[in-house]
Amino acid sequence: MRLLVTGGAGFIGSAVVRQAISEGHHVLNVDKLTYAANPANVAGVADSKRYQFAQLDICDQPAMTALIGDFKPDTVMHLAAETHVDRSIDGPSAFIQTNIVGTYSLLEATRHYVQAGTAPKDFRFHHISTDEVYGSLGATGEFTEDSPYQPNSPYSAAKASSDMLARAWGETYGAPVVVTNCSNNYGPYQFPEKLIPVVIINALEGKDIPVYGKGDNVRDWLYVGDHADALLRAAQTGVPGETYNIGGRAERTNIDLVKMICAILDDELSGPSAKPHEQLISFVKDRPGHDHRYAINCDKIERDLGWTPSVTIEEGMRQTVQWYLENKAWWEDIRARGFDTAARQGLKK
Ligand code: NAD
Ligand code: TYD
Repeated sequence: MRLLVTGGAGFIGSAVVRQAISEGHHVLNVDKLTYAANPANVAGVADSKRYQFAQLDICDQPAMTALIGDFKPDTVMHLAAETHVDRSIDGPSAFIQTNIVGTYSLLEATRHYVQAGTAPKDFRFHHISTDEVYGSLGATGEFTEDSPYQPNSPYSAAKASSDMLARAWGETYGAPVVVTNCSNNYGPYQFPEKLIPVVIINALEGKDIPVYGKGDNVRDWLYVGDHADALLRAAQTGVPGETYNIGGRAERTNIDLVKMICAILDDELSGPSAKPHEQLISFVKDRPGHDHRYAINCDKIERDLGWTPSVTIEEGMRQTVQWYLENKAWWEDIRARGFDTAARQGLKK
């Protein structure tokens, strides 16, 4: 496959790039290199003859059109986005620009590619989205591909808008669009502002571990390598016009998840002076509009595309903790560079 990946220097995009190269595909990684990107995430494949990189904003439609025309992808896999909910609350503008205008720009660039007659006949535009577009669940129920869209944060509203654009380009212009909506990912190379790396790094540094509200919000968690596997499968065998939900079948309350990570750290770092990391948990002011529960029904992708998660949350979380322990230089570099933390993280109740 000739695969054009947007956002391939971020967390999930880089996992896709690394896996695609290891599977023998040709990859063009297009990334603006925002604060969330890190060229180190793809350093292991950067020397491959099958890997190319272009630093570009997806909102630059003429440049994207030219790049797509030159590279002639079989698939455009679109992951580039602003992704942190707390930042979207503090400043929604970049989310509207990249997630909505950027997706529009990319859909138009690929429309020109198809109309020019240069795209292969089984060309696909794979739009990567989130379960957050479906809104918030109560104690029971699961999101299916037919659940209504009810986004509650500027992030999820912008992602929902981009999903609608992708759908409309399929219906109106016949764009061969496949959409996937996935639950929360965790694993190596996740930017240290999201829950899992915040917990691990704060615990290692003996700092408070901020848990929003009562910690009773529920998320479904998927190991990033399993998501990359699902995406590569959907990109090649997903049916245009279809949506596939991707999930880990691993629902946890935030507080249970944080305690699980603390227990893994206790185990990995045991010694005479070691204190239980749970002592660092600090309940802080809740996020406004904080969705209570997400749960994904992923029967369709399991049945139709034969994908299923390969790693349990216990195995995946231990591997993740070990990766952050073994790759301190990766996250220390990011922190040395400096980045604005979303305001909520420091708020005491
Ligand atoms: P991330 O924030 O780690 O990476 C995003 C990447 O996009 C960065 O490399 C950034 O530089 C790039 N980017 C941002 N704006 C750009 C622009 N205008 N032009 C080009 N590149 C730009 O994000 P992630 O967690 O890897 O998420 C990737 C995708 O997966 C997103 O679309 C997100 O909505 C979706 N998703 C994420 C999760 C999750 O748990 N992280 C779950 C489901 C879906
Ligand atoms: P996050 O990683 O921001 O992902 P999302 O909001 O997209 O689900 O947060 C996951 C959950 O953890 C969410 O319910 C908010 C909560 N959270 C905390 O309790 N403390 C934190 O420091 C962060 C970043 C998140």
